[in-house]
Amino acid sequence: MDKLLLLFSICLILTVIFDFPVEGYRYFRQGRLGKKVDDSKPSKFERWFTQNLDHFNPNNQKTWQQRYYVNDEFFDNATRKTAFLQIGGEGEATASWMTNGSWYIYAKEFKPILFQLEHRYYGKSHPTEDLRTENLVYLTSQQALADLAFCIESMNEKYELSPDVKWIVFGGSYPGCLAAWVRQKYPHLVHGAMSASGPLEAQLDFPEYFGVVQDALRSVSDECVAAVKTGTAQVDKLILTKDGQKRLDEQFKLCDKLEETIDNPMDVSNFYQSLANNFAGVVQYNHDNRESNLKLNLTVEKLCDVMTNKDLGIEVDRLAAVNNLLLNGSNETCLDYKYDKMISEMRNVSWDAEASEGGRQWTYQTCTEFGFFQTSSYKPQIFGDGFQLDFFISMCEDIFGKGYDRKFLDKAIERSNTLYGGLDIEVTNVVFVHGSLDPWHVLGITKTRDNKAPAILIKGAAHCANMYNPSPSDTPQLKAARVQIKNYIEDWLNL
Ligand SMILES: *[C@@H]1O[C@H](CO)[C@@H](O)[C@H](O)[C@H]1NC(C)=O
Ligand SMILES: *[C@@H]1O[C@H](CO)[C@@H](O)[C@H](O)[C@H]1NC(C)=O
Ligand SMILES: *[C@@H]1O[C@H](CO)[C@@H](O)[C@H](O)[C@H]1NC(C)=O
Ligand SMILES: *[C@@H]1O[C@H](CO)[C@@H](O)[C@H](O)[C@H]1NC(C)=O
Ligand SMILES: *[C@@H]1O[C@H](CO)[C@@H](O)[C@H](O)[C@H]1NC(C)=O
Ligand SMILES: *[C@@H]1O[C@H](CO)[C@@H](O)[C@H](O)[C@H]1NC(C)=O
Repeated sequence: MDKLLLLFSICLILTVIFDFPVEGYRYFRQGRLGKKVDDSKPSKFERWFTQNLDHFNPNNQKTWQQRYYVNDEFFDNATRKTAFLQIGGEGEATASWMTNGSWYIYAKEFKPILFQLEHRYYGKSHPTEDLRTENLVYLTSQQALADLAFCIESMNEKYELSPDVKWIVFGGSYPGCLAAWVRQKYPHLVHGAMSASGPLEAQLDFPEYFGVVQDALRSVSDECVAAVKTGTAQVDKLILTKDGQKRLDEQFKLCDKLEETIDNPMDVSNFYQSLANNFAGVVQYNHDNRESNLKLNLTVEKLCDVMTNKDLGIEVDRLAAVNNLLLNGSNETCLDYKYDKMISEMRNVSWDAEASEGGRQWTYQTCTEFGFFQTSSYKPQIFGDGFQLDFFISMCEDIFGKGYDRKFLDKAIERSNTLYGGLDIEVTNVVFVHGSLDPWHVLGITKTRDNKAPAILIKGAAHCANMYNPSPSDTPQLKAARVQIKNYIEDWLNL
């Protein structure tokens, strides 16, 4: 099967993928969002309900079936006053969350009924017959927020919740934004929100991302950072000669020979981006407690051990060793970096296509709402300057057609920040949680400015780390954050 290439790094995967597959890094590198979950036997928690296609046009009466999950094992049947909602994001919503994660532990104490809503256009929640660009007009965060509001109304009725029911929502990454925004837009329905790792500020060019990746490597050693920089400079030289290209083909196990792709700047950009994302993927998920991560044991320390190990050769050889580690970890035989192959996959509008696992949909949302393009324009840059903003903008146009150009994108980003307020969001009963290692914290609220919407920045923690099951090896900071969050929820419920 052809592999998709990485384009934007998606990190925003998390809420949905609790059991990150062993191949997780491949998904990350290739800009894929997740693996189709075995659906031969639906979870006992799975349910469906009728949702509106277009919440903002009363003349459009079309509806579709949206998937959700419900678990009432802790529910206080007598009072029916508490409901928790896990917000699905840019990938399939899986049943694992219904019995896992820190929200599940909080539930033991607060006795809510537990729900999870799958985001429209992801997983099995298909509002339209296919993913043609004209059908994607209903794929917006505003529609998704209204889905949440209608879902809450519908569940209040169906499960006969108390008229005084308090809904607390949870979300990580893009759903971390949705959690804060749904409280902002629908405060009469949503009483409180745990917003983890949410990039609230839409931003077209997001070079700071690789700045944080660099900082994470620097926290291990300056030598590590220097080795990556030197290694990249060696790649820059080697790629200019036929012999050098051959050497890179072999060392980096490239699926296509550089000699044949070197004249296509998009392929070259994609190659450089793949090398950088080998590091980004590990940094973003460093030491979270997912099983797949424990199995692979890929940490920033491990990458730096490789980068500073002189026995492996010069720096470019060590970069190749890191690449092998990640290829092996994701069970790939070669590094696929052909741009056209990726674009043709992403243009497939079928619900059965690999790109419909989320790659096409999330790329659409970045091209029409958020940007977040992780470019190489950060200075000083240790991963080269091979993937600039133009690369990402061309990608939007190549996938969705003419018109998704720079001017369109600038307006789209400004629009999102006007709709939600970016970092100036005005909201109460939200706790914003971030990990200092997670590059996405740069676009989120990490300092408390208003006691009614506190922020927690967890030192040394990765993307959405507070949401997973606790482990004895968690840092004291992470443990303390989980307790603090629980206390906020308790306060909101007692208000
Ligand atoms: C909750 O109520 C339902 C009926 O509404 C009942 O079937 C169920 O056993 C109750 N659960 C508990 C834990 O009381
Ligand atoms: C999630 O919950 C299920 C059911 O309780 C459990 O079997 C499984 O091990 C949990 N997954 C993880 C990763 O802890
Ligand atoms: C993970 O790798 C580190 C070295 O980076 C090593 O010390 C540790 O024992 C490894 N853990 C497992 C479970 O393999
Ligand atoms: C490659 O991955 C396999 C598991 O897929 C593992 O057993 C093996 O040790 C790995 N090799 C290296 C060199 O990491
Ligand atoms: C790796 O790929 C091989 C061959 O395609 C397959 O047999 C094996 O199950 C895969 N391993 C993992 C961990 O996915
Ligand atoms: C789209 O993907 C589906 C499922 O993999 C495949 O059957 C179909 O041929 C693809 N369509 C195109 C135009 O490539």
